[in-house]
Amino acid sequence: MTVLVTGGAGYIGSHTCLELLQTGQDVLVLDNLANSSEEPLRRVQEITGKHLDFVEGDIRDTELLDKLFSQRQIDSVVHFAGLKAVGESTQIPLDYYENNVWGSVNLLQAMQRAGVCKFVFSSSATVYGDPHTVPILENFPLKVTNPYGRTKLMVEDICRDLASSDNRWQIALLRYFNPAGAHPSGRIGEQPSGIPNNLVPYITQVAIGKREFLSVFGDDYDTPDGTGVRDYLHVVDLAIGHLKALDRLGTQQGCVAYNLGTGQGYSVLQMVKAFEKASSKEIPYQITPRRPGDIACCYADPAFAEAELNWKAEKGLDEMMADSWRWQSQNPEGFGE
Ligand code: NAD
Ligand code: UFG
Repeated sequence: MTVLVTGGAGYIGSHTCLELLQTGQDVLVLDNLANSSEEPLRRVQEITGKHLDFVEGDIRDTELLDKLFSQRQIDSVVHFAGLKAVGESTQIPLDYYENNVWGSVNLLQAMQRAGVCKFVFSSSATVYGDPHTVPILENFPLKVTNPYGRTKLMVEDICRDLASSDNRWQIALLRYFNPAGAHPSGRIGEQPSGIPNNLVPYITQVAIGKREFLSVFGDDYDTPDGTGVRDYLHVVDLAIGHLKALDRLGTQQGCVAYNLGTGQGYSVLQMVKAFEKASSKEIPYQITPRRPGDIACCYADPAFAEAELNWKAEKGLDEMMADSWRWQSQNPEGFGE
């Protein structure tokens, strides 16, 4: 049986494909390469010594989806494909709704026609908005503040409605906290396009001299050192979370949301220090005004995922930073052109 991985050439998708191959699963990747290339998939096969199938195409292509479901014995779908930049989503919201919401509906319809009912969806901690308290539990109120977040919440709602309408559906909504790090081989990692939005890729680009200094967005938050606190999670742990969710779908009924985080928050300045320790590089930084839309503090209560999925983040901050640095220093241009 095959796992269809949409967006499998991307950052989290490629790490998940690697883990799937290593556990002997057949993998079919569908990716339009809008934010990636085939190179990570080539490297995944090189690292594992195993083959995966790749189709360059779009989740919005109904005919192509029907063809894939009819030609292949697809048992489950792990759905990463989508656009993910919060800032960009406020500039081109229709592209985000079309890709992320309509694309997901199109995929779910094709699954329904094919009778494939196991679905793992990449959601985000962004669906909690600015939480009243931390750590965040899955039953906290859901509230989004930007079009990207709204697409995630809409797809979650669609999945809940779908599962209520037909009890054959088995759906896991995985709410990721802050993925970071890279595979320990140093062969695959995150390749942000343009100027990185996220903290860790920005820090690693400062370390290789591609950026002059890190802007620390605000030091007047109500946190121990005044800088923003997040729950950074090693991408390999996150990838393994998808395998655990797939296992659980065998017996899980309906649509269930799981927090994938470590339960531990780190501030921006703690992240800078941890990176300096792992890389022996100094990271110059300047305190700048807060970034609009940012919240002070966000970290998971991961107990439900541990109890239900038998999943727990195993890798700590030092490993995350060492792996990020290995990836960035060995691949200063990412995957190249
Ligand atoms: P990514 O951009 O590296 O990967 C997404 C992949 O989807 C890319 O390879 C892209 O080419 C592909 N894609 C985009 N639109 C497509 C379409 N219409 N049809 C087919 N392929 C398409 O992103 P990532 O960081 O690996 O994130 C994966 C998923 O996880 C996304 O849905 C993202 O919103 C979600 N997520 C990411 C983070 C994060 O911080 N990285 C946090 C929470 C949730
Ligand atoms: N930060 C800086 N300087 C930078 C980049 C980030 O100080 O150059 C700070 C931010 O202010 C924040 C922390 O580092 O305090 C983390 O910022 P990221 O942009 O890496 O992550 P966010 O938590 O802001 O956003 C991430 C994803 C979003 C997702 C959100 C909630 O990028 O897609 O988590 O899940 F919506």
